[in-house]
Amino acid sequence: MPETLTLTRPDDWHLHLRDGPALATSVRATAEVFGRAIVMPNLGPPVTTVEQALAYRGRILEALPDGSDFEPLMTLYLTDRTSREEVQRAAACEHVLAFKYYPAGATTNSESGVTGLENVYSVLEVMEEKGLPLLVHGEVTDPAVDVFDREKAFIDRMLSGLVERFSSLRLVFEHITTADAVQFVMGAREGVAATLTPQHLLMNRNDLFVGGLQPHNYCLPVLKRGAHQEALRRAATGGNPRFFLGTDSAPHARGAKESACGCAGCFSSPAALPLYAQCFEELQALDRLEAFASHFGPDFYGIDRNTSTLTLRRETWMVSDELEFHSGEKIVPYWAGRQLSWQVA
Ligand code: NCD
Ligand code: ZN
Repeated sequence: MPETLTLTRPDDWHLHLRDGPALATSVRATAEVFGRAIVMPNLGPPVTTVEQALAYRGRILEALPDGSDFEPLMTLYLTDRTSREEVQRAAACEHVLAFKYYPAGATTNSESGVTGLENVYSVLEVMEEKGLPLLVHGEVTDPAVDVFDREKAFIDRMLSGLVERFSSLRLVFEHITTADAVQFVMGAREGVAATLTPQHLLMNRNDLFVGGLQPHNYCLPVLKRGAHQEALRRAATGGNPRFFLGTDSAPHARGAKESACGCAGCFSSPAALPLYAQCFEELQALDRLEAFASHFGPDFYGIDRNTSTLTLRRETWMVSDELEFHSGEKIVPYWAGRQLSWQVA
């Protein structure tokens, strides 16, 4: 059994960094390990223009520790009112890599999301033409659909049609949670990929309820049953370049999670790479971790892989019970108080 594992420095292809005083804690946790990250635009108010994205990028760079060469890759939040001109500006800006599609009301700060796909057809044409990827939160918001079925319903009602109608649009199905999504991505035309989070690889919906309600395991899309988790684990470790790392790390203060109406989101950044390593080791696929974490993402986005490396060493350690967040608030990281067998050296 190897004692160390040296990889090309990985990138995180789906990350929430927040803004204001929360930014420093969240970006530091990521920048210690990852070379780059796709930064989600769901601030309140959302990042909808290139100008706002560049200003946000500036605040992220300012919050970085001295000497860090971490690079934030910006995204714009697609709304019913996004103009074709804004898409053109985004395509021309080297710091903006993609648009994020949230169905209105699907998750944290998604009130400004798209209310009907037809409303954005005209801007999707420009994205397709410019090769600018669309990153999709794939859940329907129809209250009649069971929460556990919303991803599958999204594939059937929206995604299949979208992928066919815009037949060369590059699309990432973000944080997939079901065997249905795995199957869809595997069978889809070229230019369709998916990200996988640590929590969906390491847990299933029992982890929300067993031993009492577990708010720190609650995220959206919500954890699904074990059979889905198995399909995701096989997809992540199977060596298929369509599946790559995206933590969806989404920090919320302890009080906002442990509340009568708890926020969705797992703060996985502090242990992200060891969490993925745990899953890959369990499936005897550690030799495939590097491609998943460091190669397939940049290849999909058409940018260079990182040239530096990072080493993991086999060492059992425990994720902190709690960390400082900001303004006196604490945050409970994902996997708090539990062990992992790989540690970033
Ligand atoms: C994210 C957040 O808090 O911004 N929460 C989550 O559970 N993943 C939003 C999102 O990506 O859905
Ligand atoms: Zn997210």
